[in-house]
Parts: sequence; C-alpha cells; structure tokens
Amino acid sequence: MAILEIRKYPDPVLREVSRPIEIIDKKVRILAKDMAETMRNANGLGLAAPQVGMAVRMVVIEFDLEKHDPRVLVNPVIVKRIGRREERDEGCLSFPELRSQVKRSPRVICQAQNLEGEIVRHDVEGLIARAMQHETDHLDGMLFVDKVGPSDKQSLRRDLAEMERNWSETHSGR
Ligand code: NI
Repeated sequence: MAILEIRKYPDPVLREVSRPIEIIDKKVRILAKDMAETMRNANGLGLAAPQVGMAVRMVVIEFDLEKHDPRVLVNPVIVKRIGRREERDEGCLSFPELRSQVKRSPRVICQAQNLEGEIVRHDVEGLIARAMQHETDHLDGMLFVDKVGPSDKQSLRRDLAEMERNWSETHSGR
C-alpha cells in the first residue's frame, strides 16, 4: 500500500469531470486501497480519485473514524436526497486549513458498485451523508467552495487567491 500525493487547489485535475470505471481490475483495486490508506493517513472522512490525480469515478468514505471502516464506492450516484438541507462546517483535503459553511441534505441514498462489481445501495445520514455528497461532487469537478453561502464568500475569495498564488509559484516549472 502507498500513501498518495493529495492534489491541492487549484490543481486542474480537481476541475475535471471524471470518467466512469468500466472494468474493476487489479489497477482499480490497488488505487482503492491506496486511496483508503491516504485518507486514513490524512485523518479524512472521504477522498475522491481526482484528488490523487486520477480522473475516474471512485471515492472512499470513512464510515467509522474510530474503528476505521473505509468503504469504496465505484461509479457512485446519489439517487435520492432526503430532508431539508442543513448548513454545516465543512473542509476538504485539497484545501488544507480552509473550512466553510455548506448546505447539504441530511440523508442520502447512494448507489454504487463495490470492488466485486456488485451494486450496493448506501442509505446514510449525518456526517457520512455529507461526505457522500462532497465526494461525489468531486467526480463532476465540483468543489465545496463553489457551494459556500454569501456570508463566507468575501473571506473565501482572499484565501483562494492566496492558494492560487502559492500553487503557481510551486508549479511554475511544470
Ligand atoms: Ni474534498
């Protein structure tokens, strides 16, 4: 297993629309294991493949932070959002130290394949439902900062501008 490099905003791969996974082969299973390990190492609740530079539709979600129970979702689709959206503090491993209030549904039903290719339905709520929405957004190039309400927009713009400067400085040679 390997700890992968987590791509930081504004790495262009974070804006890509990821492609579906058609065949769950050894490469996909290794990527899934490495993503779970990378998420755990970063104390994350979720990680999407584009965040490690692979624009494919796979996410890992931590179902139990204490016992560590990462679930792999291949080609996940949120088929139902239940309840009135709630505003809560949210962060992302691609935006270290940045947190913001984001509205999400309190409960979702997500359909995905597991690594055996079987269709699995996840009916989840609370923090896991939030992570599920956040991570599946990543697969469409959507980031949590896109969903921030007007009250947080101003300070967010400054933080993002700073991240953009830092990123272009460290990537100017590439
Ligand atoms: Ni994220």
